[in-house]
Amino acid sequence: MITDLRSDTFTKPSPAMLEAMFTARVGDDVFGEDPSVNQLESMAASLFQMEASVFCPSGTMTNQIAIKCHTQPGDEVICQKLSHVYIYEGGGIAFNSGSQVKAIAGDRGRIYADQVVEMINPDDVHRARTSLVCLENTSNRGGGSCYEMEDMLQIKQVCDLYNLQLHLDGARFFNALVAKKQNRLQYGEIFDSISVCFNKGMGCPIGSVLVGSASFIKSARRVRKVLGGGMRQAGYMAAAARYALANNIERLGDDHHHAKIIVEALIRKDYVGHILPVETNIIIFELKNNHTAKTFADALRHQDILAIPISANQVRMVTHLDITEDMVRQTVDAIKAID
Ligand SMILES: Cc1ncc(COP(=O)(O)O)c(C=O)c1O
Repeated sequence: MITDLRSDTFTKPSPAMLEAMFTARVGDDVFGEDPSVNQLESMAASLFQMEASVFCPSGTMTNQIAIKCHTQPGDEVICQKLSHVYIYEGGGIAFNSGSQVKAIAGDRGRIYADQVVEMINPDDVHRARTSLVCLENTSNRGGGSCYEMEDMLQIKQVCDLYNLQLHLDGARFFNALVAKKQNRLQYGEIFDSISVCFNKGMGCPIGSVLVGSASFIKSARRVRKVLGGGMRQAGYMAAAARYALANNIERLGDDHHHAKIIVEALIRKDYVGHILPVETNIIIFELKNNHTAKTFADALRHQDILAIPISANQVRMVTHLDITEDMVRQTVDAIKAID
């Protein structure tokens, strides 16, 4: 038995999810004729009481489409310096949108309204036009940290004042929702576009939705086609996402609980340095004394547990749907056994 804590992207469809996929009604989605995709897209829009949504293969695609639709070449995008849209999407902001980034140091992946204000360029021909702010909730490199609703509302006020669009990379939106017990409809009021992934911790093999106004999603569909993301009988995948929406959201709380159990074991070890506060399902911590990220990950691997070094002295572990209580216990024992 391998306990794979490298990422929540490793979850696999359960037999019940596969059954939902096998029995899905499908059609050609590029023609708008896939009933399962159409149903998922209207469910996703109504989650936030927004007008429309579009189903895409990946969270990278939904983020990049959103950025493309919100910007013009030469514009500037404000985001946190470790945000996925900036450091993990292959330079996509430059590649796809011809825009540049102004990155804020922030705090555990989050940025704040006063920091955004400082980064907005004046209306001056020498300067790039600031047009978009991107937030990530939960923040991957921030160790699964969550935004307070109040902080997002304050950023929204700044965006309204300076005529900026506001996009949410909600790859792990449901983790934030469950952890903070927030009102999802408020997200629909705050953001101009929201990307939500079903391939993280939810068991789905593929799929993200981008949600926004009807006109925004009309443009997004065009960009999705340009990027080669127009899928045909995508209803099989949409059925998995619909299954996840119905069955795999509330249980994310179990993953958060499992992460806290693992942290309790880490705290007690001399070879563990700073641990980012654990709010959801991601644990990021430093190694010290006789361990580097690699030696620690190697020691775990010898006990059939996989974790991922994210720098020379930092390791990430992520709990998810396919991590059972037994696996958590096994991980705790393994951590205790390493010196
Ligand atoms: C915060 C965040 N945004 C976006 C993505 C991209 O998702 P995908 O792997 O579906 O392209 C990821 C992937 O891990 C992520 O962690």
